Amino acid sequence: MSDKAKLVLGDKTVELPVFTGSEGEKAIDITKLRAETGFVTLDSGYMNTGACTSAVTFLDGELGILKYRGHSIEELAEKSSFLETSYLVFYGKLPTASELKVFEEKIASYNDVPEGIKTMIKAFPKDAHPMAVLSSNMVSLSAYYHDLCAQDLTPAQKDEVIVQLMGQLKVVAAYAYRHSQGLEFIKSDGSLDYCSDFIYMMTGNKNVSKEVAKALDVLLILHVDHEQNCSTSSVRMVGSSKANIFATISAGVDALWGPLHGGANQAVLEMLEEIKNSGKDYKTFLAEVKDKNSSSRLMGFGHRVYKNFDPRAKIIKVACDSVLKTLGVKDPLLDIAKGLEEVALRDEYFVSRKLYPNVDFYSGIIYRALGIPTNMFTVMFAMGRLPGWLAQWKEMVEQSGFKICRPRQIFTGDTKNTYIEIKSRS
Ligand code: CMC
Repeated sequence: MSDKAKLVLGDKTVELPVFTGSEGEKAIDITKLRAETGFVTLDSGYMNTGACTSAVTFLDGELGILKYRGHSIEELAEKSSFLETSYLVFYGKLPTASELKVFEEKIASYNDVPEGIKTMIKAFPKDAHPMAVLSSNMVSLSAYYHDLCAQDLTPAQKDEVIVQLMGQLKVVAAYAYRHSQGLEFIKSDGSLDYCSDFIYMMTGNKNVSKEVAKALDVLLILHVDHEQNCSTSSVRMVGSSKANIFATISAGVDALWGPLHGGANQAVLEMLEEIKNSGKDYKTFLAEVKDKNSSSRLMGFGHRVYKNFDPRAKIIKVACDSVLKTLGVKDPLLDIAKGLEEVALRDEYFVSRKLYPNVDFYSGIIYRALGIPTNMFTVMFAMGRLPGWLAQWKEMVEQSGFKICRPRQIFTGDTKNTYIEIKSRS
């Protein structure tokens, strides 16, 4: 195939360069299209727009493949840890044992937040959603670390802010939960691994079983990065204005909160509860989500990129069975989820639209079995996705000649109106 694409516009033909990615995916480079032709491209919802080049994550939605830095998600979930995978996405290679130890120790050293942040968490109403507490406290950290808010951080500052945020987001998340329960904050215990420490800070249980810590660790690995999803694109968008990293990450948290994105894990659980409480059969429920006059959807199903099984969902489904068995938990919601999945995957509506379970379909059932409350599910997603946001931000600011993100639009409004004095308007 030629490395040029030809575009015919009336009697004019322009040649556009074709860019080939390392997995062979092709893109038409339209950077100069407007300058040469006066045309821009129109792609609502960025359905077919490559907004950047990136070496962090590869995913093939048709084949159901996901890799971080060339490592398959299946292999990382089986063999790696959340912090090792985080190092991998930041630095592009697996750490040596000593590099990992230093990295883990640095993250563990950020085991607290400034007093003002604690006061702010306590000022929230008890029923505040923990994502509101997380988002506002992420941006508020910028008020305490002025050096790290500089327009251009040094490599050492970037390394430092990465470990700082990895440590402090966990603290804010745990404190947000403790506050919502009217409980005192529990100080981090440096002798515990990342996940056990988080559960300890949330629940006060220091004897977290290996199985529980491992199950949470795997869930976090599965969420680490997912190329240019809504929250990561928001991080790139906000970071591209050279907004400080705390504001940038807060934007990622906000974008993630929506029910079509990370908020879906909470919405799935609420949907399963509703089915259980109403006693609706699956077919009746599916008829509702298929009805074009209804705004409800089968939460945890469908994906912008995956038109095949989401590889993360496959791993989570297996993990779900195993965690519940290990913990001796019998959750009726798991039976409902499996039943719904089975019926949906045989239903022409879902088959023809290539709608499969996504990462959020079973994750909530595991979180529930681990004792994590429903309104903390999206916070858990944020904790898992933080390394991806940071890696993509780092990659963007380190790319030579990076530019502020600023899409174009096609104006469809009125072209000429006349100002009428207010007293004369009908
Ligand atoms: N239930 C019912 N119908 C659906 C669903 C669903 N979950 N998802 C898509 N559809 C239908 C949709 O109505 C449309 O039908 P039609 O062609 O007749 O108009 C068709 O499938 C295509 O849907 P779309 O909304 O154009 O697809 P999209 O790529 O814009 O949206 C999505 C992707 C994830 C927002 C969507 O599938 C959805 O809303 N899913 C439920 C929410 C969810 O589980 N989100 C988590 C995504 S995975 C975690 C993450 O990365 O955030």
